Parts: sequence; structure tokens; C-alpha cells
Amino acid sequence: QTATAAIQRVYRGTFIHSTQRKVVEVLEDALLGVDTQGKISFIGSGQDLSQLSQTFGFSPCVVTELKEHEFFMPGMVDTHIHASQYSYAGTALDMPLLQWLNTYTFPVESGFGDMEFAKKVYTQLVKRTLRNGTTTACYFATIHTDASLLLAQIANDFGQRALVGKVCMDRNNSVKHYKETTHESQEETNRFIAEFFARKYPLVKPVVTPRFAPSCTGALLGQLGAIAKNNHLHIQSHISENPEEVKLVKELFPDSESYTDVYHKYNLLTDMTVMAHGCYLSDKELELFRQTGASLSHCPNSNISLCSGLLDVRNVLNHKVKLGLGTDVAGGYSASMLDAVRRTLDTSKVLTIQDPDHKTLNFEEVFMLATLGGSQALSLDDQTGNFEVGKDFDALRVNVAAPGAPIDLFQNDGPKVLLERFLNLGDDRNIVEVFVAGRSVLPLAESAR
Ligand code: GUN
Ligand code: ZN
Repeated sequence: QTATAAIQRVYRGTFIHSTQRKVVEVLEDALLGVDTQGKISFIGSGQDLSQLSQTFGFSPCVVTELKEHEFFMPGMVDTHIHASQYSYAGTALDMPLLQWLNTYTFPVESGFGDMEFAKKVYTQLVKRTLRNGTTTACYFATIHTDASLLLAQIANDFGQRALVGKVCMDRNNSVKHYKETTHESQEETNRFIAEFFARKYPLVKPVVTPRFAPSCTGALLGQLGAIAKNNHLHIQSHISENPEEVKLVKELFPDSESYTDVYHKYNLLTDMTVMAHGCYLSDKELELFRQTGASLSHCPNSNISLCSGLLDVRNVLNHKVKLGLGTDVAGGYSASMLDAVRRTLDTSKVLTIQDPDHKTLNFEEVFMLATLGGSQALSLDDQTGNFEVGKDFDALRVNVAAPGAPIDLFQNDGPKVLLERFLNLGDDRNIVEVFVAGRSVLPLAESAR
């Protein structure tokens, strides 16, 4: 990548994104150039078209103008989603976490040794999440190495940025055959990583994935911590989702001071770690997250659907812990990040109902969590999350007034109001085009629909 890569596309219109300094920045009549590598080469004012076209060497007639009621926003980042659980999304939400895993989840996940089934479910989910505006997803697959590699290939082929994890688990499982020995889990993780890099999926990275402490012996956690360290890899798991689970971890790891301490002890808390949930973390545990640079994925649909708990996002942010949003399909029943945005706002409002002193999250903050915050939580913010020059162009072209979409406009709303209405009322029909690394990945080509 050189600073002088040729301009491939230029867009003119309203751009809305979050920056380090501003929760929501609205750029009206802006011009954004994407180079042939898919990176943002400039963002400036529409007034400066002739000057920018000279500096960056493009003809003004290549500029694509957005229509009325359209804007660009960064693609959304789903920091926690189980691709293998998509087949039963929207059902089986009548039990608490540990029973739910044993009754529904493990039996379904055990079926992913069947590559045809895996291909069907993974293809549908990648298409669905792209339609819903997820340009980056952090996926759990299953324990099956080959099906996990297939998920990486499918995401890469459809043009979605992703982290993909082969799940590791060597104990406590209701389904006899859905478990590995400690040695198998280590060996298969090594094979997963080796094949992953050999096959080359430019948009996808492998992520070391101990399912959660109750499913893994200390020996396995230690080996996975070492694998992540030696290969400088991302790590994902679950933490402190439900009270029964927290109690179980105390029993299984009596020598550890806390749930967080279990992962910390095995070198699984790094600045490339994302842990889902964290509803019951103490301030001391949050402090350990901050010190290590590990992040949390807030999955409000799942937390409510499984009656797990309510995460106080404000408290997490006050502790300067990185946080993104996740759908947690299928503990969460929706594969849409717009749903995660709404549930995040709802959860924060419930906390305010319970305690009027709670400082409710506003939609601007939640927009940031769904985009830039997610990219930071996944340590991918050098590549994606907003429209800074040098980052990849991962973007949604939103038409708030798209035909057939569920938003009616009555007055001349400004861009921030249009964003708020899209976040609260919109759906995939408002997302008219999706870009990842500068490439238009949606609408899909006829043959891929
Ligand atoms: N904890 C361990 N495994 C899972 C899972 O698949 N879903 C959720 N929500 N929590 C978990
Ligand atoms: Zn999960």
C-alpha cells in the first residue's frame, strides 16, 4: 500500500461517523475518495472538488452523488455471534444459560461435522448479517476444524471482514460426542491456524476460542493462552454471563480469586481479547480488563432472552474498558446489529428505571459502540470503524426513505435525526449498499442471491 494508490471511487454526500474526539460527527456535502486498495484516501468538502480532483488525480465526472435522504455510515461490527447457532435462532429461549447449552446448543452444534449442513447455515448467516449491515463479525463456529475453516472461506468469499474461531472444549458436556480431549483440542487449534494461513483469507483472521471456563480444563486454557501468545492471535470467550455460571467457575477454579482471574492466569486476557457479557464483573475485575486492554462484548438481546442479567455499560465505560456490541445469535434471537443497538438503549433505560441516578446511554453513544467501539473492542480499529483516511472503506449506504422500508418522513429532518430514526426504526431495506474494503458486497450478484 502506497500513499499514491490510484483513486477508484469518489462519493459526495452526507457522511456520519464517530471519531476519537466526537461521538457523532456529521459531514454534510463531503467528498470521500477510495483508492484501488479499498482504502480511504481523502475526505474533504464538496466545495473543494476541483482542488481535490487535481491533488488526487481523478476526473470530477467519476463522482457518485448520494440521493436525498441518503447517507453513509461505517459498517457495523458484531463483536460476538455464534454462526453455528443460526439454525435455531428465534426459538428455544425458555431456559437459563447452563440448561440452555445442554438442552439446545450442544446437540445442534454437534451436527457441524456434516459439511453440507455447515455450508448451508454459514452461507445463510453471512448473507443475512451482510444485509443487516454487519461488515465485520467475530464468529464462534463449533469444535469442528474443517467446518470452521469453511466459515472463514464463506465470509471471505462474500466479502465480509471477520474473525473466526474453532471452539475448544474438553469437559462438562451433556452431548457425549461433542467434546474433545485436551490434546485433541490443542492439536486441532494448531491445525486450524496452520490451514487458515495456508489457504489465505485476506479479510478474515483466526481467533483462539476457549468456549468458556466451565467447558475447559485449566490445562487446556493454559495451552490456548500459549498458542495465542506464540502466534500473536486474537482471543474470544464468555465471562460472567449468569449467576449460576459464576458460581460454577468458583467451584471449578477454587484457587482463582475471580472469574476474570481464571482467564488472566492462563494468559487469555490481552489487548486482543474480547469476552462476551461480563454482567457480574466486580470493579476489581473491570480494572484487570482495563490494565490488560481486554474488551467486553455487550449482548443485550441474549442477556434478556436467557434472563442472564443486565450489563451496566456506563459503569464499564467509566472504567475505561473497551466495549462493543454483539448479537450473540442464538442466545440473542436477532442477527441484526440494529437490534443490538435498540436493546442496548432499552437495557440502559431499564437501569435508569431501577436507579434514577443511572446515566442513560444516548443513541449517539450507542451508534459509536456499534461502529468504532466494536472495531476497538476487536483491535481492528487501525483498519475499520470510521471514515479516517488510511482505513479501509467499510460502509453502509443508508436510504432513510427507501421504498418499502418502515420509515415515513414528514418534515425536513436533519442528518442526525435521520440517523436516529434509522437506528430506531430502520431495517435491511434501508441499507441499499454495503462496502467492505472498498468493494461493493451488497446487493449480491444475481447468482449469489
Ligand atoms: N457460554 C458458553 N457457551 C455459550 C454460548 O454458546 N452462548 C452463550 N450465550 N453463552 C455461552
Ligand atoms: Zn456467546
